[in-house]
Amino acid sequence: MAQINSLLLEQVRDRFAQVDHCPQQGPRIFFENAGGALTLNTVVDTSQAYAAIPDNQGRENSGSHELVRVINKAKEDMAVFMNAPGGQFFVGESGTELLFRLIMNACLGAGAGVVLGSTLEHPATRSACDRWARISGQTHVLIPHDDATGTVTAEAYTAAVTPDTKVATILHTSPVTGMGVDVAAVSQAIRAVAPDCFIIVDGIQHAAHGRIDLTAYNVDGYVVSPYKVFSRHGYGVAWISGRLTGLEHNALIDGPADNWEMGTRDTGAYATMSDVVGYFEWLGSQVSDATDRRAKFVAAGEAIHAQEKALTDAMIHGTGNLPGLAEMEKVTILGGVDNPAREGLVSLRVAGVPSVDVVKQLNEQCIRTHLRKADHYSGNVLTPLGMDSCVRVSMCHYNSVAEVAQFLGAMKTIAA
Ligand SMILES: Cc1ncc(COP(=O)(O)O)c(C=O)c1O
Repeated sequence: MAQINSLLLEQVRDRFAQVDHCPQQGPRIFFENAGGALTLNTVVDTSQAYAAIPDNQGRENSGSHELVRVINKAKEDMAVFMNAPGGQFFVGESGTELLFRLIMNACLGAGAGVVLGSTLEHPATRSACDRWARISGQTHVLIPHDDATGTVTAEAYTAAVTPDTKVATILHTSPVTGMGVDVAAVSQAIRAVAPDCFIIVDGIQHAAHGRIDLTAYNVDGYVVSPYKVFSRHGYGVAWISGRLTGLEHNALIDGPADNWEMGTRDTGAYATMSDVVGYFEWLGSQVSDATDRRAKFVAAGEAIHAQEKALTDAMIHGTGNLPGLAEMEKVTILGGVDNPAREGLVSLRVAGVPSVDVVKQLNEQCIRTHLRKADHYSGNVLTPLGMDSCVRVSMCHYNSVAEVAQFLGAMKTIAA
């Protein structure tokens, strides 16, 4: 099993900007990865280099040719990284914008029927389906997620899918509970009943955890937000199948029919995705003997998962002589204590202490977490649990057990 040992963890941490400090706050532990992961140093350098380039793509000069080469390389890199079965990658304004665009075009192109999603989904997907199903004369059906486990199963989709399901949406990982969804199993369940359904996946919260396999998923769209997978803010990335590509979409008259991009592309955005893919490849080569590129990505994903499980296990069950969250009487953990679907994230509530104060007190001890409120972002998960808020503690493979220990030390007092 691929593992990140302490020596390798140091090398991993060296590759990320601001790994243990904030320019404003000074030293800090970063447990807010679900809000935006750390940025690779290579991404910082690449972004600066491309910001200086005045040239545009599609011109007959060497500067322009190089930009086109870099864009094409990034698309090839992402295809191997995510094991894409054909189709295409392109960038848009943000993850939200791309989810809206993919869902809009799928709804408008699919004809009357059902648009099927789940209550686990982020409002980006739910809102897009709500609006575009109405405009397209379809019915939007939401499958209730399981409150106890904080996820939704393939069986739940099986119970709801009908032959007239034209568009279906899947959330890969919840940013509130931290639990993953078995996308391949859900997609199989949908296709068993509605084989031609357009299936669109929100991979935004999952991407930093590795282990993406678009061939296995057999879906039509997969969206990520690069700043949540070690790149930077300012754009989103989508993969779409050949089938989805072929649907009518916003495009310039007489322009290339398959082009889903809107206007001039930021070459630097693409170039940073090659940096991200390069990082996963490097990590895979450190934790395995694999020589095949795809095998390195698989190994990197396994190592990331193992490291994140070690971190969440330490947080929940304790480390050294520090009790874990599960042993703290006043603490409730969303999705249960031992949940195999957990991806690096622990959301919790402390009885008698408002979540906003928990986040504040942790912050005063230089531990950055995040308050989730029962608002339009997280109410779908928190309200059925009778919670007005929770504290989201989101880790990534570059975090250490020592950081978790510091967190538990702080929590011991906060939840006393
Ligand atoms: C699962 C999920 N989907 C969608 C979004 C929206 O992403 P963005 O703000 O990058 O558009 C987020 C952001 O937190 C998310 O976690």
